[in-house]
Amino acid sequence: MLKIWILDSGMGWHYALLDIKSHFPQYEYETYLDHANAPYGNKTGEEIYRLTEVWCQTLWSKWCTLILIACNTICAETMRKLQDKHTDKKILGCIIPSVEVAVEISQGKIGLIGTNFTVNSGKYEREITKISDTHMLFPLATPELAGYVEKGIAMHRYTLEYLDIRIAELLEKNIDTLILACTHYTVYYEYLSVKYPPIKIVDSARTQTIKLGEYLGKHTELFT
Ligand code: DGL
Repeated sequence: MLKIWILDSGMGWHYALLDIKSHFPQYEYETYLDHANAPYGNKTGEEIYRLTEVWCQTLWSKWCTLILIACNTICAETMRKLQDKHTDKKILGCIIPSVEVAVEISQGKIGLIGTNFTVNSGKYEREITKISDTHMLFPLATPELAGYVEKGIAMHRYTLEYLDIRIAELLEKNIDTLILACTHYTVYYEYLSVKYPPIKIVDSARTQTIKLGEYLGKHTELFT
């Protein structure tokens, strides 16, 4: 049986798992989350790498076929290092899936909200540039948001006001697409889709599910 581990810093795992499991109920899932150290978005690259490496060592010592890193913050810097170090393991991230979907559906101006670390890493810009020379990215850090979701006040009036103010900044840039570059923000997918209907919302939990399906279709050896 294919066993997939989903890693995230905190509540984001919940949304990632819900989406993936609803599409692929036939596989076995485990989740690994680091509530104690969340949020990761305000840490340094070294701290994030050290924490993630400990998780991965733990998971490899158990029976695990595939690790899905659902956390954009981890993927922004650490994933490539992990893949280079553990070349015999299957580790999939969540940034490239969102970039591919956003470039496919956007007319040209893509907004992004994410943690400090994800935004400052420039990873999304670099990946977009690799596949398009016409799309522009407008990234905006929303460093408090993941913490609000962790505290259970994601839909509190003041939290939504904070979110709306940040979205207004991006709307001034005439974006047509918005990437939710943090799995914690999946909780806002419906809210934003209903409130800002012309804007196409790209949610990293959902795009990771789409790309996982494509990946599994090509890697049938994982089932043997
Ligand atoms: N859910 C994580 C992400 O996708 C970040 C939350 C955190 O700051 O720990 O980036």
